Parts: sequence; structure tokens; C-alpha cells
Amino acid sequence: MNYNKKSVEDVDVKGKRVLCRCDFNVPIQDGVITSDKRIVAALPTIQYLMKNGAKVILCSHLGKPKGEWKPELSLCVVAKRLSELLGQEVIMAKDVVGEDAKAKAAALQEGQVMLLENVRYMAGETKNDPALSKELASLADIYVNDAFGTAHRAHASTAGVADYLPAVCGYLIQKEIGIMGKALADPTRPFVAILGGAKVSDKLNVINNLLEKVDTLIIGGGMAYTFLKAKGYETGTSLLDVEKLDYCRDMMAKAQEKGVQLLLPVDTVVAKEFPNPIDAPVRVTTVDAANIAPDTMGLDIGEKTRELFTQAIANAQTVIWNGPMGVFENPTLAAGTMAIAKALAASKATTIVGGGDSAAACEQMGYADQITHISTGGGASLEFLEGLELPGIACLQDKE
Ligand code: 3PG
Repeated sequence: MNYNKKSVEDVDVKGKRVLCRCDFNVPIQDGVITSDKRIVAALPTIQYLMKNGAKVILCSHLGKPKGEWKPELSLCVVAKRLSELLGQEVIMAKDVVGEDAKAKAAALQEGQVMLLENVRYMAGETKNDPALSKELASLADIYVNDAFGTAHRAHASTAGVADYLPAVCGYLIQKEIGIMGKALADPTRPFVAILGGAKVSDKLNVINNLLEKVDTLIIGGGMAYTFLKAKGYETGTSLLDVEKLDYCRDMMAKAQEKGVQLLLPVDTVVAKEFPNPIDAPVRVTTVDAANIAPDTMGLDIGEKTRELFTQAIANAQTVIWNGPMGVFENPTLAAGTMAIAKALAASKATTIVGGGDSAAACEQMGYADQITHISTGGGASLEFLEGLELPGIACLQDKE
């Protein structure tokens, strides 16, 4: 895939109506945004467009309203936060491509910013319906995609609209594909990838693709138990992807064939049952990863494993991390994930964290600004690591 895409700087935006797709899919609790990270990440592109005399029409999805008008998923709350961050009113449209949006888009002045309502209020959005793409395109002269978090979706506002307008990327997409693209295509070595999270089946192609590229692959989290089982160890009642045991054996053989060091936990924190609610204390003990008793389950990596993984990270020049090492929402089971966050923060290497839980862990611990790049994409960064072509990027114009 060609990641050398035209950007906002390669088109003349002065006096033009620019439709800019952002990922404002932010967490909201009781009507309050609990993390505005994705809004902040979109600011450089929006501010560039404003300063350069564009008439800025922003759009995004929020949640999964599935074509229904759900008031709790209105982007009004985002418009308010964005207005504060920009120090300028963001004009909110009452609809997506209806009369209000059209009238407000037509009346925009240079440097003004408006936001369309949640694009997923329209059933055509997730179906990538050309009729909706055309309607969106009719609002503007230029399309800018800066929604990295949604770039793995081929939807009307993330890909379809590029069929009808000159299409370029914003600074966020440029930064995400620049850093992650370089790490995958031409990494400074040793290159270490750390994968965690619950299931092997969520990361099949990521493991396969990374084994082609890395010097060391570290596997922790729930998915490690399927690998341990495949090696012949007892895993008790730990999470298991029974259908993926052969896959794990194949991947271990592939690692050997490619000369990739594959590191699995050597000890694990176990408990008899998983507590509910999640923040209740849990009685844990640490056992050898080969000796998990039949009535216990592994819930985090143990101390020796933390040291082993930390050492591998300390020797690396490029590190990519995606997925927690344990059930880190529970403070008793957070040490493994926190150790990885700490090791990345202490490293002099280029350190890249895929979105979601690993990003949250870095932020919670106050390490976020010691990491080279924390991706704004969860699913998108995973698909990127799989080596897949992301439709929201593929649709943009290549640089000559
Ligand atoms: C995300 O939060 O990962 C993106 O905004 C994509 O959202 P989606 O999974 O609802 O498409």
C-alpha cells in the first residue's frame, strides 16, 4: 500500500469549502466527554484549514446509532468542547446532509468552522451508499480525511465521498501512517512487538504479519494461555481459544524458522475465580507458567515475566505494543500492564502504542508523554499492523 499521500498542504484551500472527516468518537458518560484526546488530535488540521482561509465543514460518527436519530449520540457535546479548544464558535448543524446543513455550509465564511450531525444517523453511512457520498460531496469543494481511528471502515464519509471530490489527508493521518509505516517497513533494529489482550483469534493476522518483521515477539495477556497450552502446559481455567491451538503451534514454528525470538510468560498471577465487580480485590498467587492448577486461572503476568519482557524492551530500538498483559482494570491485576508501560516510557527506542487499553494504561500511569506515538486508532491500528490496506487512506490521492 502506498502511504505517500497528498496532504492539506498540497491543495489550495483558500476560500474553498473543505469537508474534513474526523474521528470524534469520544467516550461520553452522562453527557460528559471523559477523554477529549481524539478532539485534541484533530486540532492541527482544523487550525491549519482555518488559518489558510478554508470554510471548514467537519463530520464524524459517534457510537453506533445504526441509521437512527438517537439524541444521546448527538455531536453537540463535541461542538461545544471543540469551540472551547479553538477559542471560536463551532456552528452545529441540526442534520447531516439536510436543509440545515446545506444552508449553514453555503453561508460559511473563510476561517469559520461547522460540524455536521453524527454521520451514522444516516443509514447510508455504514453501507457506503454512493447517494450519501454524493450528498456529502455536494457540500464541499475538497475532502480531507483525518479520521485515522475510522480509516479501517469503508463508509460513505470515510471513503465513498473521495470518489466525488479531490481527496487528501490531514496531519493526524499523516503522522499515524508516517510513524507506524516506517516502523513496519524500515524499522531501526532490534524491533520488538508486544501483543496482549484476551483472544488469539482477534490478532491472528497481526501475529502472522509481525513475525515477518520483528526480531522479538512478546506475547502476554489472555492470549498467552493458548500458546502455553499449545506448548503442552496446563493452563487450568485460564482463557483458551481451543480452536487456535494448531495456529499457535504454526506460529511458534514460523518464529523458529524466521529466527524470531518468541517470548511467552514464564510465571503468571493466578486466582480461583475472577471477581465481579471488577474493582473488588482478588486473592492472587504467582506460579510457574507451566504449573497452573486445574481450578485456577491466569489473570496477569508474574514478576519474572515482567523482568524478562522489560529486558527485551530495554534492548530494542523500535517497540510496538498492543494489548494489556492482564485484567488491568483491576488494580490487583495491573502490575504486568503497568510494567510494560513503564518499560516503554524508560526506553530510548521509538515506542509506538496501539490505541485502546494499552493507550489508556500509559495515560493512567502518566507515561503518555514519554512514548513516541500513541495511536488514536484501536481497530485501525490493528489492521495497520496486519498489513491491510485501510480504505480511508487508500482512497486519498497519491503524491506524484
Ligand atoms: C473507534 O472508536 O475505534 C473508531 O471510532 C471506529 O468506531 P467503530 O468501531 O464504531 O467503527
